[in-house]
Amino acid sequence: MAASPKDPQLMRSLLDAGSFLLLAAWLIVKAIYRACLPATYSYRKDISGEVALVTGGGGGLGRLLALRLAKLGAKVVLWDINIKGVEETVGLVKGLGGKAYGFECNLADKDDVYRVAKKTQQEVGNVNILINNAGVVSGQLLLNTPDHLIKRTFDVNVISHFWTVKAFLPKMIEKDHGHIVTIASMAGHIGVTKLVDYCASKYAAVGFDEALKVELEAQGVLGVKTTVICPYFIQQTGMFENVSSKFLPTLKSNDVADRIIEAIQREENLVTIPGIFRGLGILKVIMPWEVISLFIRAILPDAAPHQQMSPIVQIRETEDTLPHKSDSITSAMSQLNHRLLATGKDL
Ligand SMILES: NC(=O)c1ccc[n+]([C@@H]2O[C@H](COP(=O)([O-])OP(=O)(O)OC[C@H]3O[C@@H](n4cnc5c(N)ncnc54)[C@H](O)[C@@H]3O)[C@@H](O)[C@H]2O)c1
Repeated sequence: MAASPKDPQLMRSLLDAGSFLLLAAWLIVKAIYRACLPATYSYRKDISGEVALVTGGGGGLGRLLALRLAKLGAKVVLWDINIKGVEETVGLVKGLGGKAYGFECNLADKDDVYRVAKKTQQEVGNVNILINNAGVVSGQLLLNTPDHLIKRTFDVNVISHFWTVKAFLPKMIEKDHGHIVTIASMAGHIGVTKLVDYCASKYAAVGFDEALKVELEAQGVLGVKTTVICPYFIQQTGMFENVSSKFLPTLKSNDVADRIIEAIQREENLVTIPGIFRGLGILKVIMPWEVISLFIRAILPDAAPHQQMSPIVQIRETEDTLPHKSDSITSAMSQLNHRLLATGKDL
């Protein structure tokens, strides 16, 4: 039987569809306005006095983020399996006049994450900004990758996010204030040879952020934000050092750190670095698979990190092979100064 124009169910559905379209149009106009607004006029939240936890803060991107967060007045907490690296970062932040607290934590071990989370809460306070940054890569053909490395990739790159978020989200919800940042990768949007476990873990990290965001919004928790960051390959962090990338230049680590801080301050949802990669999702839908595959294989003939420094290897190094703490802090400081001078960038 055909529905009559006075059918209450049909009227309700039409009304719902109409309200949805109106609201969607308003949100699109708002998003376009925000995107067109010059950077100086756009909203940037104040993060001074916030407690910001950076996992994997013992080196690479985590260290660069810690320095920037401290410069903006945040109390920085650093977790890493590499305690020497954490000590160096704490020294560097303190050298800038910032506040930093370092903890040794193995993110692949759930009990260790919960133990260190409790210690952090007791010794520093509630974490308001959680940056899930630590990551590992195996970098081999799937059939050559030992099972334990595949498991480690998932444990560190995504499973640990469940434990850190479960540890710190309740207080954020209670105060309706907080920010959860996921450092994923462009490998969370495109599959790459020799990175099967890494890509799969990063796709999962992108999904983790999106589902968590929707869940918070559905519960009316609007004061807790989430951001997912998806960079292309980065130079000078140790993870994908010397990766072969044809046509597309790899990213400068300082530029990536600057963009991440901007995304946190502007409470952005999904950030690809470079921004033009945002369009890849559309291309993947409209292009034949053969074109996508040709493109990926052309720009990344070999994505295996040639000089990968596995963190597991790093902590197994003996005291003799590691530089003296003060020497390494001095060398890290001078490297940082050199980089800043070279790029002409302020922290
Ligand atoms: N380097 C790149 O090209 C690139 C590109 C896109 C995304 N990313 C992502 O950015 C993030 C930071 O990467 P990076 O380039 O600074 O790498 P990095 O190797 O320099 O730093 C990773 C940090 O994580 C720590 N870590 C590893 N396993 C751990 C564990 N079990 N427990 C605690 N800490 C552990 C390491 O000790 C290290 O300090 C990662 O999530 C990575 O996947 C990197």
